[in-house]
Amino acid sequence: MSPDPARFPAGFLWGAGTSAHQVEGGNRWNDWWRFEQRAGAISGGDTSGDACRHWERFDEDFALAAADGHRAHRLSLEWSRIEPAPGRRDPAAIAHYHAVLASLARHGLRPIVTLWHFTLPAWIADQGGFENRTTLDRFDEHVRFCAREFGGEVDWWCTINEPEVYAFRAYSEGRWPPAKRDESAALVVIGNLLEAHARAAAILRAEDRTDSDGDGHATRIGFAKHWVVLEPSRRWLPLDLLRTRIEHAVFNQAVAAAPATGRVDLSIPGARPVRRIVAGLAGSADWMGLNYYTRWKVRMFAPDPHVAAPGAALNDLGWEDFPRGIDAAARGLAEASRVPLLVTEHGVADATDRLRPRSLVETLVHLASVVSAGVPVIGYLHWSLLDNFEWADGYRGRFGLYAVDFADRGRPRTRRHSAGVLARIARANGVETSLAAEVGLAL
Ligand code: FCB
Repeated sequence: MSPDPARFPAGFLWGAGTSAHQVEGGNRWNDWWRFEQRAGAISGGDTSGDACRHWERFDEDFALAAADGHRAHRLSLEWSRIEPAPGRRDPAAIAHYHAVLASLARHGLRPIVTLWHFTLPAWIADQGGFENRTTLDRFDEHVRFCAREFGGEVDWWCTINEPEVYAFRAYSEGRWPPAKRDESAALVVIGNLLEAHARAAAILRAEDRTDSDGDGHATRIGFAKHWVVLEPSRRWLPLDLLRTRIEHAVFNQAVAAAPATGRVDLSIPGARPVRRIVAGLAGSADWMGLNYYTRWKVRMFAPDPHVAAPGAALNDLGWEDFPRGIDAAARGLAEASRVPLLVTEHGVADATDRLRPRSLVETLVHLASVVSAGVPVIGYLHWSLLDNFEWADGYRGRFGLYAVDFADRGRPRTRRHSAGVLARIARANGVETSLAAEVGLAL
């Protein structure tokens, strides 16, 4: 039998991810909870509410992941639970996260811990969030606290999640709290978040020298970067090309290169540029998180400047399913950041699992070939373990390997076929030719 072509290097990390607000339930101390109560804020009038009740059911959820061959799990610590009021830390929340980390260890899942995944304690939001530089000081204190408290249990820290997605959604499109429409503010926020990352990296390195998972390495730090493959909608139209270049430069390139160059260099027409060298930013990342989902065809002067390619397969949120794009995304991010990559998110909003099994297999076949071509990628974490609260899209975007019934108070989980597909890939550390054939793909 010929060896399966899509193999991954030994020790490749397999797993899935979640974020606190999207799965825990009852996160009433943050800006999102408040925002969700406004009429029209969230699609379908949804609120996060009890979410997946993962706050109570984390142990069972980690058992599901472990039984599927996962060896790592990405989660976030909810700042607003740990510090619900300025300087007041909640012992129950802290004990809870110790229990969560202990459960991960028991299930053989290496924790990849995100310190900031879009939500702010309401009191921080009231002070202007990451638009206000005082928040950098408050975040430093929070990071130092987490490093001291949880550093013995965590080696892999993801400081921040997708500064570029957050800034454009919350400060330019106005779809996420604080719902502003000010592109200059969006650039300020990206710059401040990159600085927050650099400062967090310095604190984590100074505070934590332990090797909690016994793999011979101490703290390893990165942040998650969302990479969208951007192409002009009409190749022959210089204006579409121009807009594509501008968006690629600010959204993908500038943020990806920042931890290598130490420079924040953000500009878009009509907004005040943000340009500065940030102390400690150069060399601040040991790895970078790649969040990859889709491709946008870009149009200048269109009501919707980002469209799917004509005839493309669309997921339940209307995003193009574009597996081979992970090739350009991984190459682009590795080249700009000059550090190894961990795929921290990739997935499909697909309630009925009509696209996900094949998309998953095809994406991983492409990822394997990028890796064998020499791009350093150390693992793949699927988004998400569970269906969850998909921000302004509410419960419309079903990304889970496990479906969650949100109409049922108990929030029962149901295994999707895709969970088994990923389990087979994780166990084989590659895509077997037979699995590819099952989803209709010839290797
Ligand atoms: C990413 C977010 C994650 C989830 C996925 C679908 O932008 O980091 O929380 O919402 O998209």
